[in-house]
Amino acid sequence: MSKIISLCKRRGFIFPSSEIYGGFGSCYDFGPLGVEMKNNIKKAWWDEMTKNQENIVGLDAAILMSPKVWQASGHLTAGFADLLVECKSCHKRFRVDELKTKVCPECGGKLTEPRKFNLMMRTFVGPVEDEAALTYLRAETCQGIYMNYENVLNSMRLKIPFGMAQIGKAFRNEITTKNFVFRIREFEQMEMEWFCRPKEAEKYFDFWKKERLNWYLNLGIKKENLRLREVKKEERPHYSKETVDIEYKFPFGWGELEAINNRGDFDLSNHSKCSGKDLRYVDEEKKEKYFPYIVETSGGIDRVFLALLCDAYQEIKGGRTKTTKPTKEVEILLKLDKKIAPIKVAVLPLVRNKPEIVKKAKEVYQLLKPHFVCQYDELGSIGRRYRRQDEIGTIYALTIDFESLKQEDLTVRDRDTMKQERVKIKDLIKVLKEKLER
Ligand code: GAP
Repeated sequence: MSKIISLCKRRGFIFPSSEIYGGFGSCYDFGPLGVEMKNNIKKAWWDEMTKNQENIVGLDAAILMSPKVWQASGHLTAGFADLLVECKSCHKRFRVDELKTKVCPECGGKLTEPRKFNLMMRTFVGPVEDEAALTYLRAETCQGIYMNYENVLNSMRLKIPFGMAQIGKAFRNEITTKNFVFRIREFEQMEMEWFCRPKEAEKYFDFWKKERLNWYLNLGIKKENLRLREVKKEERPHYSKETVDIEYKFPFGWGELEAINNRGDFDLSNHSKCSGKDLRYVDEEKKEKYFPYIVETSGGIDRVFLALLCDAYQEIKGGRTKTTKPTKEVEILLKLDKKIAPIKVAVLPLVRNKPEIVKKAKEVYQLLKPHFVCQYDELGSIGRRYRRQDEIGTIYALTIDFESLKQEDLTVRDRDTMKQERVKIKDLIKVLKEKLER
């Protein structure tokens, strides 16, 4: 794991938040490569859910909502709390389910009896900081979907079954934050809530379980590193009738990437009761009136990001090049899927002391920039520059050499095979687009 963390910092994927002040409470910032990669993950999910599936519409609800939402959803009560113990000597808190000893793992001190600790982050809205203005940062994005269930149903003239998809930030005051971005206090979720007839919830639960697992496989994650885990009743969230987690085999062990939940009518019936608004669905054809059941797919982008990096990361001792003497260095290769890799194309002049070559390379970079996320690099030997690009998963490295000046072409090097082919500059955009979509 330390190698992934080091790569993230060194190459601009992820930085600790407020680093010059010593970092801040397990929050992280995504750097120039990180934000590109994160956007690629979000786009892959959004396309999959709203374009490739039937009857799913999007939403972008506000993070701040009435505190009544969280009262009705059960998040302010014991349901959304971790069982904690506190050390009587050093006052550090630990989750009971993660504790392996009967004494404080930090200082060996005596521990208190377990007590519940709510995970909601509080904030104040408006000019007066009192209880009346208290609300919470959302702990799951789906509550914004439930708040808009009726608005969307009516404005889009939808019929059950249908889904609503949303991507956005969520906040939890986690006690144990460890394993880099796996468990953090500010994270991003991609959630889809599928509203269906109660009788059909089982069928759709099964359907979504398979669909979601396939999504991860299609992003190139190795099959042996993924599994479905049925979550036992005592472990399930307070709203769930049935939960299956999609887990990834991280270097620190199996960890949840996404939860598939059958939430039954828990949310809509509670919000109906608490708001006084009847949220039952009226089926004119079947002459039925009922609270739809909700089958939810709830993934965390930061965890998917980490899983994709872990899965793609390879170290090759002595390097991959067989044509030149091995450098004896460890070469890093990040074999990210074409859709996910932050940089698609690198433009490299063979040498930087020939102005004509540099000029041509800069022209090519300007030509490609509007079409692909590109990097221009002229520092160091060409071999070293290829390795720098391999380390961040760049799909194609383009080299402008002496031949390019005569032939108006360049070499396109494939990250995985290291094979090079010459392509005319006039055909470059079309060729690269075709290659990247293949
Ligand atoms: N609406 C259902 C829900 O929020 P969850 O299992 O609590 O379910 C769903 O969270 C996903 O959100 C998890 O599978 C995980 O990927 C992500 N997630 C939850 N807490 C997280 C945290 N503290 N840090 C990073 N990701 C988190």
